[in-house]
Amino acid sequence: MHFETLAIRLKTSVTSQREHSTPLFPTSSFVFEDAEQMRAMFADEQTGNIYSRFTNPNCKELEEKIAALENTEDAVSTSTGMAAIFASFMTFLKAGDHIISSSAVFGATHTLYSQFFPNWNIDVTLVDPVDQDTWQKAVRPTTKMFFLETPSNPGLDIVDLTAAKSFCEKNNLLMNVDNCFATPYLQQPVNFGADLITHSATKYIDGQGRVMGGLVAGKNELITQVKKLCRTTGPALSPFNAWILSKSLETLAVRMDRHCDNAEKLAQFLSHHSHVSNVTYPFLASHPSNAIAKKQMKRGGGLVTFEIKGGLEQGRRFLDSLQMLSLTANLGDTRSIATHPASTTHAKLTPEGRSQTGITDGLIRISVGLEHIDDIISDIHHALTVIA
Ligand SMILES: Cc1ncc(COP(=O)(O)O)c(C=O)c1O
Repeated sequence: MHFETLAIRLKTSVTSQREHSTPLFPTSSFVFEDAEQMRAMFADEQTGNIYSRFTNPNCKELEEKIAALENTEDAVSTSTGMAAIFASFMTFLKAGDHIISSSAVFGATHTLYSQFFPNWNIDVTLVDPVDQDTWQKAVRPTTKMFFLETPSNPGLDIVDLTAAKSFCEKNNLLMNVDNCFATPYLQQPVNFGADLITHSATKYIDGQGRVMGGLVAGKNELITQVKKLCRTTGPALSPFNAWILSKSLETLAVRMDRHCDNAEKLAQFLSHHSHVSNVTYPFLASHPSNAIAKKQMKRGGGLVTFEIKGGLEQGRRFLDSLQMLSLTANLGDTRSIATHPASTTHAKLTPEGRSQTGITDGLIRISVGLEHIDDIISDIHHALTVIA
């Protein structure tokens, strides 16, 4: 079956009520027919639901759907994207290990590296997402994993997945890809050899700014281990959130196509606007990794960044001059969102620290929503004009 069909037709079996749409299963635990069944399930001799920290029908439907859409054997759901990333690290890393990570990863992943990994004696080396020479130089005998995000948040750097795989194969590393920005509709990292794929389902998988969620997908033998860690440490996704996210996946393909249509038009418009510079969008010919993006992604995604002339102060004035776009700490919503990383998410970094992560003072990130593109462009054009 095709992606769109799997996203709609994969579901839990129909109950005795013969419902068409999957019902909600808000239950902490499940009953057993008799003592023997209870014993057999606890002994892993028989599969089935025991307790919602381990499995729940709504979570299972979401996990099976994501595994099918990511073309992996299995997946596990978690309460947030960070819980998924954390589980993908803690399952496979131990004290004394080292990981190599692209420097262009989400802020909370950086905080995990700098403020928590030292407590557990896990070392991290940050490498340039594009300069592959830096990758090999970072390898140590204790290196276990290469973690990367492509496209990255917020810089939209593209990591070459084919090159990442040969690097991981050569050095016997697990390749772990945060696929949050592309979603499986635009990019399936497993087809390039990724071992683990993580998601913040909070973003495009929900797509409507309602619930938090996370997923890790990959081969059975790896996901079984991640499930064991999650079932013991407890970052379980609530059945309600899983139900929402599974329903949302039914429309992922149509939503992503419209996000991409709108983002392409906005990127084109901004490239010709006299008040902005450095428009970044993976499918713009001017993107430094445009050829790689086109090789590994179906379309360019829903995020566009640009540089406002005038730095920090102009960035803040731009946000204050918007009339429709939302100022909020999320992305991947139906509603278009504008953020100014230098005065918000990355304000605590020094200007040098910001520039190392590719965040300039005038950088604006737009998560292009599903409103009519003329209204999105008109709001941004108006704000750019009044602050000029
Ligand atoms: C690329 C990326 N990965 C992971 C996360 C973390 O996801 P969550 O907020 O669901 O924990 C985010 C959140 O913005 C993100 O943008």
